[in-house]
Amino acid sequence: MRRSLAALLCAVILLPVLARADVYESTMILVNKQNSLPSDYVPSDLSYPDVRYEEGVPESRKQMRAEAARALEDMFAAAEKEGIELLGVSGYRSYWTQHDIYQTRLQEAGEAHVSVYVAQPGKSEHQTGLAMDLGVAGCTDLTERFADTDAYRWLTEHAHEYGFIIRYPKDGVQETGYAFEPWHVRYLGAQAANVRASGLTLEAWYRRKLAGSRLTRQRRFRTGGIFG
Ligand code: DAL
Ligand code: ZN
Repeated sequence: MRRSLAALLCAVILLPVLARADVYESTMILVNKQNSLPSDYVPSDLSYPDVRYEEGVPESRKQMRAEAARALEDMFAAAEKEGIELLGVSGYRSYWTQHDIYQTRLQEAGEAHVSVYVAQPGKSEHQTGLAMDLGVAGCTDLTERFADTDAYRWLTEHAHEYGFIIRYPKDGVQETGYAFEPWHVRYLGAQAANVRASGLTLEAWYRRKLAGSRLTRQRRFRTGGIFG
């Protein structure tokens, strides 16, 4: 009796924790300025995509979650068949790596710049292991120059076929909180094609989805990215 009570108590205590873990591990998680990850969240299935990287990328930043990593490999291979040699520049970043990047960029570039280009720790998609910054030879500096490359044009046409969206589109700052980042792709899986077809940012797409959902209509948008 005592043992079963202990088991029940354990389940009650652990369930919310497990439920949160499910949310964080959803490929549809929404992480942005309003929806943060805990400082100790590390994806459970990080792996190394077998793709080319810019020289000098730290090993830890080459990682993505397993499903996203395989999709990235497929996308790089498809691009290569069309003569486009993509390079990985920055994938998974822990809370504390993001913290250091944020502080460094704040000192180098100032508040106005970081507020629209660098997420605060806990608020970066890079901590999900579902994002990768991309470049090509001669253009790995993560600037808008990337939008003028064939690689970017190819990504706008094909990234969704591999489950990725270009997460921070031009003129999306009101919605996403960030300026145009043509280099930042985010893995969503099967829904990427729908998000792209909608022409909406991920934030606006979710808002529209919520508005149409009776179950969630009563809830606030700020849910920690529960959808998916
Ligand atoms: N550059 C994006 C917003 C990040 O820091 O996660
Ligand atoms: Zn990025």
